[in-house]
Parts: sequence; structure tokens; C-alpha cells
Amino acid sequence: MEYLNKLKVKKAVIPVAGLGTRFLPATKAQPKEMLPLVDKPVIQYIVEEAVKAGIEQIIFITGRHKRAIEDHFDRNLELERALEEKGKRELLKTVKEISDLADFIFIRQKEPKGLGHAVLTAEPAVGNEPFAVLLGDDVMVGEKPAIGELIEVFKKFSCPVLGLQEVPKEEVSNYGIAGGKLVEENLIKVESLVEKPSPSEAPSNYAIAGRYVLTPDIFTVLKRTKPGKGGEIQLTDAIAQLSKERAVYGRIIEGKRYDTGNKLGFLEATIDFALMRNDLREPFLKFLKEKLKEELRDG
Ligand code: UTP
Repeated sequence: MEYLNKLKVKKAVIPVAGLGTRFLPATKAQPKEMLPLVDKPVIQYIVEEAVKAGIEQIIFITGRHKRAIEDHFDRNLELERALEEKGKRELLKTVKEISDLADFIFIRQKEPKGLGHAVLTAEPAVGNEPFAVLLGDDVMVGEKPAIGELIEVFKKFSCPVLGLQEVPKEEVSNYGIAGGKLVEENLIKVESLVEKPSPSEAPSNYAIAGRYVLTPDIFTVLKRTKPGKGGEIQLTDAIAQLSKERAVYGRIIEGKRYDTGNKLGFLEATIDFALMRNDLREPFLKFLKEKLKEELRDG
């Protein structure tokens, strides 16, 4: 594995093949990753985060019902022509820039057999180099791109790195949870990993926050990982196994995480993203203030 420290993390795998059952009926015929936060689909924020951190190639793991994602990152010549003719230059630039963000590769996961299986499906495109993984519905907002914080740790140790965030004890059963020793500020050396533990089983309240930098030896482990919680091949189980064979680190990510695959997380993200927009902040805040006053008055 010595060769790894000479390699840059240039590739990112974004698994988007899940069924999105928590967001039905909206996700019956459209991917949850294409739901917009204001006017930009969730998946574009995630791709932009990866690109800001130096990623050059994005490998999407998709499924049958996810064609809209491919179309979003492709050119739309008819639309470009129409915008050109109407003199809508700003919009034309916005639309064209999307397909230039990175090189895009799409691989189908034929059946949604779990996140671990989705990552294994990326092996032919990743090859023998370190790679980032960003979940297609976890949006992170911070000063620095969250995946960039993990890449910094990888550069130092040449080891797999998990993105972590603290969650309340009563919520640990929604996440993969990592326990370990703090070795630097905001950095733990992982000693145990459990997928969706009960609060009494959880080794800590550090939850895996949808960001990873992995090394290619994860593929060997994934090939022998049996289905775990929910009958799915769990990435957390494979990383737990890998952590017995080599050091794995957990970086506590600064910044805020939104799980846009769940309805409440999506609503919170929508409000925060609207308030971050110069063109919307003022009128939207006015609306929210009035709404809150009304709600409080009516009890
Ligand atoms: P989730 O469990 O959050 O996504 O998986 P889901 O299965 O789409 O959602 P629900 O629970 O049914 O509402 C985490 C990530 O892993 C991907 C999902 O697309 C999501 O980005 N995933 C999950 C796959 O790509 N393939 C799978 O087999 C499972």
C-alpha cells in the first residue's frame, strides 16, 4: 500500500441507486437526488463539493429509474439554442457549466443490494487507486468542502477515512456509528464500527456522515461481505472488517449536514438554502416571520 501516498484522490463514487422509499410518492418516477433545494438539484450541490475538493472524475452508481441524473449532467443542445436565441446569457452559462463540472461515468447497479454492493459496482471504473465516496442525498455546508477535509487526512496517513458527525444518543440507530480514540483535534483512530446500533450497543455517538475516502483494498473485503442489517451488503460492515487489518481514521467534519432523503431534513435544507440566497433572503424571511407570528398566535 506504500504506492498510495503518491496518489491523489481524483475519483469520486456517488451511489444514487437506492429506491428512496422515505420520500414516496415523490420518488415513484423521479430520483430523490433530483429534488431541488431552491432551484438546484440536491445532486449538483454534492458534485460541486467534490469538484471544489479537486475531484476530476465522478462515477455515479445508478439504477433504472435514475435517467434524469444522466440527463442533468449532459448537454441539452435544444435548450441551449433556445436560451441563446432569447439572449438569456446568464441562464445559458448556468446550464452549460453543469456538464463541464467534471468527467462523468455512469454504471448501473442492477439491483439495490445495499451501499456496500453499490460501491463494489464501481470497481472497474476506480481501479487500483484511492477514491472518495459521497452519498447522493447527504448535503454538507461549511467553509471548506467536507470531502476535502477527509482528503487532507488521507494525504497525511494514506489510510481510509470516514466523515463523522456527532448525533444525539437517541438517533444512533439511524446511522453507522464509529468508536475509537481521539488522536488529534477532530480526528479519531477507529476501533469499532456498527451499522444502526441500538443506543445501548453504540460505541459512541459519532455517526458516519455520508463521506468517505477509501483505498482499493475495500473491494476485496466487499466481495466477501455477507448481507447484514436489512438484508443489504453494508459498507459499514466491510469497513469494520478492513479496520481489523489496517488503520482507519474518522474525521469529525465541520459544517452542517442535511439528510435530504428524509422529509424533515429536506425541509430544513430548503429553508436554510433559501435564506443563503441574496435574491430570496429578504422576502422569504419576511414571509417566515409573518408565518411564525400567525402560528404562535393561533397556538
Ligand atoms: P439510503 O438508505 O439513504 O437510500 O442509502 P435509499 O435506499 O434510496 O433510501 P430509502 O431508505 O429507501 O428512503 C444511502 C445511499 O446509498 C445509495 C442511495 O442511493 C443513497 O445515496 N444506495 C443504497 C445505492 O446506491 N444502492 C443501494 O443498493 C442502496
